[in-house]
Amino acid sequence: MILPPTDENIVTASKLLKEGGVVAIPTETVYGLAASIKSEAGLREIFRIKKRPSDNPLIVHVSSIEQALSLCARPLLKQLEQLAGAFWPGPLTIVVPYRGRLSSLITAGLRTVALRMPDHDTALTLISMLSSPLAAPSANRSGRPSPTTAEHVEKDLGPQVMILDGGPCRVGIESTVVRLSKDTLTLLRPGAISRSTVFERTAMQVVDLQSQADRLQSPGTRYRHYAPIAQVVLVVDIGELNRQKEAAQGIPIAVLASPTAQILHQIEGSRPLTTQTLYSEFRRADDLQLERILVLCDETTAADEALMNRLSKAAEPLSGLDDEQ
Ligand code: TXA
Ligand code: MG
Repeated sequence: MILPPTDENIVTASKLLKEGGVVAIPTETVYGLAASIKSEAGLREIFRIKKRPSDNPLIVHVSSIEQALSLCARPLLKQLEQLAGAFWPGPLTIVVPYRGRLSSLITAGLRTVALRMPDHDTALTLISMLSSPLAAPSANRSGRPSPTTAEHVEKDLGPQVMILDGGPCRVGIESTVVRLSKDTLTLLRPGAISRSTVFERTAMQVVDLQSQADRLQSPGTRYRHYAPIAQVVLVVDIGELNRQKEAAQGIPIAVLASPTAQILHQIEGSRPLTTQTLYSEFRRADDLQLERILVLCDETTAADEALMNRLSKAAEPLSGLDDEQ
């Protein structure tokens, strides 16, 4: 059930969360399916509704830096405060070793927790009212693209789930996830905030996962994310795009390209691709039962690490990877 984020509805959502329920909430990135971090019942409900594998940990959403600091192991407090101070509220998720007790449904048994303060008034008001952080994965059914509107959430999760409607998400792609240790920041998932922005604001280098073992241990890297039902085919130039179009004679296709690409004016029905439009375009193609999505990865698109990450994952063949999220 989609509801406007009135004071009254936020109070109702807060009560529901306190009693062990779940609520879908808007954030600036994508919608999340939230439960109180103090409610085992609510946390279990997230995994049940999403059909999410239980070995994938959840992001804990806070309404203040202090709330995040209270969950972080003491040796990293200073670094967390500095990094959060530079980017929160905003789409940077920071993974730190945690302090105190946290449900293993949140941590998937790891010794770390992922923390983020979303840049959305409705989410922040709700977390403050509850006086407890909210654990929330993206509010899509596992294996579907993340939802960027309340309607996407309802389509995936059904009419029973309470959804606070914050309108279309401003960013449209998930947060950047970094692991913080004493002297390094490791990129676990590229997202709305680029490495260069992190460096400009904090003088900290963001490095890649160093070893294969580390990669395998990092949750979220072993699943196939963000994929529509339609097959996603990436092409590098207009010549290849035209060849693919010819080959697809008779098959219903979509064509996506960066807003500056010439072909948007040349190919009827082609649509602009940005981080804001990616998931809604994937969903649109599925709603129209298109079989294939041809994506022109020109220089503009190729330069966007987060967008390319989602596109490459969506274009991966199914075998060998589990669906997620
Ligand atoms: O923008 C976002 O991050 C959205 C909104 C709702 O906040 N949330 C989101 O959550 O994308 P989810 O669950 O779909 O993705 C969370 C990612 C997963 O790849 C998960 O494996 C990783 O964060 N993660 C969570 N806790 C972690 C931890 N302790 N260590 C490493 N990775 C973690
Ligand atoms: Mg997700």
